[in-house]
Amino acid sequence: MEYAVECENLIKEFGHDRILKGINIKIPKGKITTILGFSGAGKSTLIKHFLGLLKPTSGKLTILGEDITKLKDIELRDFRKKFGMLFQYAALFDSMTTFENIAFPLREFTKMSEAEIKERVDSLIKDVGLVKESTYKLPSELSGGMRKRVGLARALALKPEIILYDEPTTGLDPITTKMVNDLIYDTNHSNPELTSIIISHDIQATLKISDYIAFLDKGVVIEFCPTAEFKKTTHPTIRKFLDLTAH
Ligand SMILES: Nc1ncnc2c1ncn2[C@@H]1O[C@H](COP(=O)(O)OP(=O)(O)OP(=O)(O)O)[C@@H](O)[C@H]1O
Ligand SMILES: [Mg+2]
Repeated sequence: MEYAVECENLIKEFGHDRILKGINIKIPKGKITTILGFSGAGKSTLIKHFLGLLKPTSGKLTILGEDITKLKDIELRDFRKKFGMLFQYAALFDSMTTFENIAFPLREFTKMSEAEIKERVDSLIKDVGLVKESTYKLPSELSGGMRKRVGLARALALKPEIILYDEPTTGLDPITTKMVNDLIYDTNHSNPELTSIIISHDIQATLKISDYIAFLDKGVVIEFCPTAEFKKTTHPTIRKFLDLTAH
């Protein structure tokens, strides 16, 4: 099996606090992996390492076959193009239309011509299921679900190999939540090479769309396995989490 992310005994300390206490995980390429865990477990801290935004105190971190702890800042900037990122609130530029939001990374990181940009943006708009009429609207004129689609289109603009979602559905209504989860699933399945890594509190959706689930507890991965196995786990902490979040 090929791996998108490999952590070997990854440790992160902030001052005297050891937040990641030796993470060992190998996230398969081309699959959907969700990271679950109680608040404060270290989930966001972990994925910040994947992006090279934080450097581990010790341990090894290999992303797409490359030891990223050895990269210089300028190399990291280039390396980050391999990632797409979708945040909780989509984080669109408020004063830019859908078109300009999606075109932004293309203008920033490529030398594409205006005609090429238009072609790429139009195709992304189609891929994420936005209607044409949304193209020249501002984020404030779009529904929450449509804004997520714009955010996803922007995250996909540079054809990333890995897409990271940090709590993509937190704070959304049930219908929009389902739409976003379907969108994550469809995006992964229509791009067989794409690796999707999700941080989520939405256990029901996680069980439905993930291929693999990792459970992070107090800075340690206490379970990492295919979803079908995860459902049957007998680990008391995870059972407690599942019971607390079942509805
Ligand atoms: N830059 C930092 N400096 C010091 N401590 C930090 C820093 N970043 C995170 N922490 C601490 O690391 C711990 C884990 O935080 P993290 O944000 O990774 O948790 P999380 O699992 O993402 O939680 P949540 O589900 O609430 O988002 C917390 O105790 C937090 O206070
Ligand atoms: Mg977090």
